[in-house]
Amino acid sequence: MRSFILGVVLTLAVLILGGLGIALLGFIPTNANATPPKLETHLAMSAVDASTDHHAARINSPVLPSPENLIDGMKIYTMNCSGCHGTLDKKPSPLASSFYPPPPQLIQDPPDDPEWFDYYTIRNGIRYTGMPAWDKALSDQDIWKVTIFITHMKKLPAAAQDYWKNAFGVPAPKAESEHTDHADHDEHEHH
Ligand code: HEC
Repeated sequence: MRSFILGVVLTLAVLILGGLGIALLGFIPTNANATPPKLETHLAMSAVDASTDHHAARINSPVLPSPENLIDGMKIYTMNCSGCHGTLDKKPSPLASSFYPPPPQLIQDPPDDPEWFDYYTIRNGIRYTGMPAWDKALSDQDIWKVTIFITHMKKLPAAAQDYWKNAFGVPAPKAESEHTDHADHDEHEHH
């Protein structure tokens, strides 16, 4: 029994030291201008989703989705987020494939997550990616405004749609079909 345990411990030690050695000898690529393999993307996104599910409080936005607040959200997005996530004229960001993992193009392909989910992501950022935590750079009110802008992008009130068209020269995104509210974001694809 003792030699069995010793064998397990030694095997683990060899694996850990081997892994460290591979990293420290420079065999792990650190460049950001590469496309992550499908399996890696799938595993990493599932882990991010599970962690967000586990940690995020199920809270509703204290900021109402009025045209004024949604237009404020558009401006906050344009100032802080569009450089990575794409501009409201629906052009991809020049940095769209310059990060590892790449930033999802939120205007071209708006996510379908619940408010609490996106709020948590925006407020706290995503570790080991280019997604910053915004809690120190934006007020809580502004984080909620940009959150509701993202969650309402395909169902903006007429005044906010007019603002979008006038300011950016293209129409606001439309829901593909009749919108239905899903309480459970697990049914949705993450990008
Ligand atoms: C420096 C680049 C950068 C900036 C600026 C940035 N993000 Fe991100 N963001 C990323 C990256 C990279 C990811 C993807 C992380 C991943 O794959 O898990 C991401 C992910 C996200 C997600 C998750 C999307 C999904 O499909 O689940 C949301 C929501 C988001 N960002 C919103 C914002 C908002 C809102 C702002 C501005 C307040 C912002 N980001 C600013 C790089 C950025």
